[in-house]
Amino acid sequence: MTRTALLISGGGSNMVALARDMTGDHPARPALVLSNVPQAGGLLKASALRIPTAVVDHRDYADRAGFEAALQAELEAARIEFVCLAGFMRILTPAFTDQWRGRMLNIHPSLLPKYKGLHTHARAIEAGDTEHGASVHAVTSELDGGPVLGQARITIRPDDTPQTLAARLLPLEHRLYPAVLRQILAGDGTRIEIDARD
Ligand code: GRF
Repeated sequence: MTRTALLISGGGSNMVALARDMTGDHPARPALVLSNVPQAGGLLKASALRIPTAVVDHRDYADRAGFEAALQAELEAARIEFVCLAGFMRILTPAFTDQWRGRMLNIHPSLLPKYKGLHTHARAIEAGDTEHGASVHAVTSELDGGPVLGQARITIRPDDTPQTLAARLLPLEHRLYPAVLRQILAGDGTRIEIDARD
């Protein structure tokens, strides 16, 4: 079983979707939920699922190198072999991402390569786009820049707001991320496409 860490900063709904999928014949198990935010709602959800949790609060560290060394120490203590970033809202430096190259995924709420970074729903609406989505990608040293392994796609309706778009996209993220994780751990890099356009 591949011992997998799920890194969160918030509600952790993608973490829950991944953890719930990691049973039975799944090649991985959730071995640690790690948050940089002590109050992250996902920590309670992880405990309810009986997954060990840890907090590395970035505010306790003078610089990114110290923060990332502490993250790495937690991952090593839990003998982690694979990492899923699931709503983890800290930028990771190349020193950290290089250590996990080929063993770390992220989910980003846009149709990458569009809208790297923050406020993706608002930016898609402001641009007048007719569709939007989420991407799961391999993590490299470039922010939101690694190879895309799967995407879910929805229509942007005329009356959409960032909030309605996010709400319609999230359930698709919960389908996409577990599907990509399963496939990658099976050694299959074929891109997954979920088309939920109107
Ligand atoms: C998701 O939209 C994810 O794509 C983004 O942050 C959100 C996290 O939601 N990066 P949750 O914490 O998984 O509920």
